[in-house]
Amino acid sequence: MTKRQGRFFFILCTIVTMLIFVGMTLHSHSRFNELTHAEKITPAVISGKHVWHNNNCINCHTLLGEGAYYAPDLTKITQQRGAPYLHAFLKDPSKFYSEQKHRRLMPNPHLSEIDINNVIAFLDWVGHIDNQGWPPRPIIVSGAVFPGSDVGQPAKAAPASSDPVAKGEALFRSTPPGCFACHSVSPGVNLVGPSLAGIGVRAAATIRSPTYKGSAKNAAEYMRESIVKPSAYLVPGATYSANGQSFMPSSFATDLTAEQIDSLVAYLQSLK
Ligand code: HEC
Ligand code: HEC
Repeated sequence: MTKRQGRFFFILCTIVTMLIFVGMTLHSHSRFNELTHAEKITPAVISGKHVWHNNNCINCHTLLGEGAYYAPDLTKITQQRGAPYLHAFLKDPSKFYSEQKHRRLMPNPHLSEIDINNVIAFLDWVGHIDNQGWPPRPIIVSGAVFPGSDVGQPAKAAPASSDPVAKGEALFRSTPPGCFACHSVSPGVNLVGPSLAGIGVRAAATIRSPTYKGSAKNAAEYMRESIVKPSAYLVPGATYSANGQSFMPSSFATDLTAEQIDSLVAYLQSLK
């Protein structure tokens, strides 16, 4: 190639890449409203964004992969945790995590009721942006720092078999429904929800206890009830519920199919 040809080649390639870049940028901009569901930006979402900025939440957290990597990514947090839990957590993070145990702690942002509700509305709007699978890794919340913990493990490849236990385990480790982000299956590792190790044996004891007011007659029914009606019976513990309402999302009855619930129950029964 002569010097002249080289220059021509350089200029041509630069122009072509620039055109592709400009074209893709314009295309992205033309789709922003649709991808971000701009019509769902309510006054609460806008106020919540101000709460987010005024309290420098981004100094520790990431949204859509942007921000600081000290604390968990919060892109899908409302779908992973649900509003009742987030509300209680933002009121007093130290109730849920301890510096000794988790080696880091979120300072209490001292938000008002209204600010808490608004920032949750903002996070919920962010969570529903069509981010085309970004960020790609699952959220790592506290608990992932425990040695030997099973939390934060990505979903195993979908089982080829029709075995309900394998199907249930794959579902348990997928987001949604994100059971694994709140429940460990290792004994004694309690996260947002109690460890589900040995849940079958414990369930049988729970339904026999005088404090049990639900309607399950056996362990399998108890697990089903725990999934579709979490507040029917509350596992004792100040960080598991408030005012008679479980911090476990109450939406699984409608979000999961009957077959999915069956496979989850089969998987839970297999946990020793
Ligand atoms: C100084 C750093 C820091 C700041 C600032 C901060 N956080 Fe956090 N946040 C953390 C840490 C660390 C965690 C993980 C929990 C833990 O280990 O204490 C966390 C966890 C969370 C969680 C998830 C809790 C869970 O159990 O899944 C939410 C939601 C959250 N923060 C929201 C916020 C909001 C909203 C703000 C701004 C008002 C904020 N954070 C500001 C450090 C911070
Ligand atoms: C936002 C966190 C969260 C998510 C997500 C979650 N849970 Fe829970 N779960 C809890 C909490 C908190 C409790 C304890 C309070 C109660 O009794 O409802 C609980 C209780 C349970 C119990 C009863 C445990 C016992 O010891 O009696 C079962 C079973 C259960 N969850 C299964 C599941 C399954 C299956 C999924 C996924 C479909 C799931 N959970 C998703 C937070 C969560």
